[in-house]
Amino acid sequence: MKAILLAGGKGTRLRPLTIHTPKPIVPIFDRAFLHYQIDLLKQVPEIDEIVLSLNYQPRRIEEIFGDGSALDIRIRYVVEPAPLGTAGAVKYAGDNLTGSVVVFNGDVLTQIDLGSVIRLHRERRAKATIVLTPVENPSAYGLVETDADGNVARFLEKPRPDEITTNHINAGIYVLEPDTFDRIPSAVPWSIERSYFPSLVERGETFVAYVYNGYWIDIGTPDKYLQVHRDIMDGRFAAPPFANMPPPRASVSPDARVEDGATIEGPCFIDAGVVVKGGARIGPYSVIGRQTQIDERATIEGAIVWPNCRVSEEAVVRNAILGRHCHLGRSVTLDRGAVLGDKTTLTDYTRA
Ligand code: GDD
Ligand code: MG
Repeated sequence: MKAILLAGGKGTRLRPLTIHTPKPIVPIFDRAFLHYQIDLLKQVPEIDEIVLSLNYQPRRIEEIFGDGSALDIRIRYVVEPAPLGTAGAVKYAGDNLTGSVVVFNGDVLTQIDLGSVIRLHRERRAKATIVLTPVENPSAYGLVETDADGNVARFLEKPRPDEITTNHINAGIYVLEPDTFDRIPSAVPWSIERSYFPSLVERGETFVAYVYNGYWIDIGTPDKYLQVHRDIMDGRFAAPPFANMPPPRASVSPDARVEDGATIEGPCFIDAGVVVKGGARIGPYSVIGRQTQIDERATIEGAIVWPNCRVSEEAVVRNAILGRHCHLGRSVTLDRGAVLGDKTTLTDYTRA
């Protein structure tokens, strides 16, 4: 069985982080995001190949995962000549498929048992099965109404406030039968959410919902990107190195150098090659990427700093995200949710 990962979006809501790093490979701690999804897909013995459907900066992604042999799974890449939308991408990537296919949005992190979704799909002899998850505000997602038998009765992408009738949304995880792909036109952009799903409902095809109440998040905005790190540090989502780590859960690489007089407060993550100078404070929910240097008396708290940055003395970085190779001058204060692109330099005493 094949799994198609839709990973061709531009990641606009995560800009400027995604200008040089496509969303599927933004780091979560020290691993590219797709590693977490590949781990999940590998738990289903039946899945023998993962097809990465790419568009934006595909080379960067291919360089990381190769043919998958290092991860013990077969990985194939399909690069669209131009963005085809979510349905167009599935059709393009799944051109000569015969059996059921698992389709996954390339930006969701979850612990769902995919095996049981596939089982439900088979039991119900469905043409499509979709995973639903409850959220507080469905407006940024696809709203899905179901009937008493657990079939999808209505699919409405990005509902307006007055259109919200349920808190169940599309979790971006499907099992599909390729004989339904004939309605997807070739070579023009087509949306799975706005066209393909509504057409299944319209034609009365067996379109089944699987409700999942466990951990689920779409990492596609700066807030959610921060949140996912916090959830892993707090153990809400089990992943290395925090799973089963006793409090205060400060993960400090043996190859980092924390000088005397520096304070490290967990939960936090300090990667290899990091230098933390005396008097600096790494507070809870901080993530410091490889080779970054935090100078004397600087404070990092609830912030994510990508590799190769320099935070100069007495700077304060709270709840912010810094791309690679950023340089903050002395006494810079970032405490309003700033998101800095790679190679940003801020002059001494800047406030933002
Ligand atoms: N290959 C390819 N080509 N991939 C694409 C394209 C395309 O043209 N457009 C989007 N994608 C990929 C993105 O990379 C992402 O992984 C996934 O498809 C979904 O796109 P997003 O842009 O992240 O959509 P969204 O988050 O606004 O909404 C979608 O996900 C929600 C759940 O997180 C929809 O599927 C909603 O219905 C759903 O609730
Ligand atoms: Mg998304």
